Amino acid sequence: MARLVNSSRNFISTLQLQNAYLVHSLRLLGTQAGLSDQKEPSGPTVKTAIPGPRSLQLLKELDAIQNTGAVQFFVDYERSRGNYIADVDGNILLDLYTQIASVPLGYNHPSFENAMKKPENLSAFINRPALGVYPPSDWVHRLKSSLLSVAPPGMTQVQTMACGACSVEHALKTMFMTYQRRVSGGSPPTEEEKETATINQPPGCPPLTILSFKNAFHGRTMGALACTHTKYLQKLYFPQPDWPIATFPRLKYPLEAHEAENKAEERSCLEEIRELIEKFDKRGTPVAGIIVEPIQGEGGDNFASAEFFQSLQDITEETGTGLLMDEVQTGCGVTGKFWAHEHWGLRRPPDLVTFSKKMMTGGFFMTEAFRPQELSILLGFRVFNTWMGDPAKVVLLEELVSVIKEQNLLNNVQTTGEYLISTIKTLQSHFPDLILNARGLGTYCAFDLPTAEARDKLLMALREKGVNIGAGGSCTLRFRPTLIFQKHHVDIFATICESSLKNMK
Ligand SMILES: Cc1ncc(COP(=O)(O)O)c(C=O)c1O
Repeated sequence: MARLVNSSRNFISTLQLQNAYLVHSLRLLGTQAGLSDQKEPSGPTVKTAIPGPRSLQLLKELDAIQNTGAVQFFVDYERSRGNYIADVDGNILLDLYTQIASVPLGYNHPSFENAMKKPENLSAFINRPALGVYPPSDWVHRLKSSLLSVAPPGMTQVQTMACGACSVEHALKTMFMTYQRRVSGGSPPTEEEKETATINQPPGCPPLTILSFKNAFHGRTMGALACTHTKYLQKLYFPQPDWPIATFPRLKYPLEAHEAENKAEERSCLEEIRELIEKFDKRGTPVAGIIVEPIQGEGGDNFASAEFFQSLQDITEETGTGLLMDEVQTGCGVTGKFWAHEHWGLRRPPDLVTFSKKMMTGGFFMTEAFRPQELSILLGFRVFNTWMGDPAKVVLLEELVSVIKEQNLLNNVQTTGEYLISTIKTLQSHFPDLILNARGLGTYCAFDLPTAEARDKLLMALREKGVNIGAGGSCTLRFRPTLIFQKHHVDIFATICESSLKNMK
């Protein structure tokens, strides 16, 4: 019996070795021959309407037990591969939206499968710790080899969280704490502050505010929602604090043809930000921090220039407010740099950077100065919840980071991104009445249609022909592909898009 166990162990470890070798070879192959190394289909296949009959049946069953208003179709995740998502009706779509921008390496990537099979990772998958109180022995090592190895320049502190919104939520609290510490000089809380804190009254709960931007999206929990200004349905009937909301620049395209106008637009936005900070300060509701996306995603892929962000940072410095860059959607290499704000040439790091989506785990980086430091209170419980992230996701992130580095995926994003934007611009030149404002950085690209109806029509036409793409803003289509998205995928999109546009003329 013992021999049998031993020989099967040997067999398993030989298999694991072979598996590891295979994964390594595939990765190298990925660098040489193409990154979609996982038997990707050669193109989309559409057999039924989407959603098809099986999807509709499952939708009916699900709808009996929960709200299904947002469900698009049911997915066969086992059959989905690389850049292709398979549905339960046998349709296979080129996925340019990837679970709302959150699939870094495509479906069923062998590196992730391999990570699941490694014996040393097993414990992380089956034991979910309360990380704030009982972290596992390898936690420091895991954080260093994953998150800290890709930390934005100048940022040494990291906090994991479960999702995007709760990362934003806790990063906002961190800005409030830092502001308050500056105001009080770091002195311990008074008895009155302690008493009033639990009943939502000042001075324990001071009337501090956060400045956010029109068309920003930061999540749907209450603090994050207070800074979200995209669709009314996200906010309707929820009480919201009276915090300052500034205008985010609305640049005109092509940029080269509107330089002066765009500069004036950004100047006026910066002026408004200054005025709002002054106004709220005078009102006794000072701005503790500013939250901004490096590129507004959900709000319609709105870009601002590097100079705008540099001036924004100057304003935070002059006024003593914090600067939180929300990179939940723009992080993890999609713009061709690991963090989108690295494109802005900021003179110093932002104070906080939130992440989630493709990063597998939520969380935020911060500078030393923003690390909770109050005296005389239980510091560990100021930014805290039960799980505070998930080591199983960090195991996958470790794998992801090593694939990104080994396969030079940032380079792939830059190359594919340049090809993608030039392809969209070519389509724009062929269909100037339908495709407007082609724009992008890396593969984080988008274009507008003249109306919401036209946008929705094109989105559905693309889906019918096997391309899954995302909507944003009022009339935008946005590309949120994987990091292994390549030129031949762009060609497939272009062919299908062109034939769909011809039918719309
Ligand atoms: C910039 C940004 N911040 C925060 C969030 C919220 O993330 P989650 O949906 O994981 O709560 C999103 C989600 O789309 C986002 O795009």
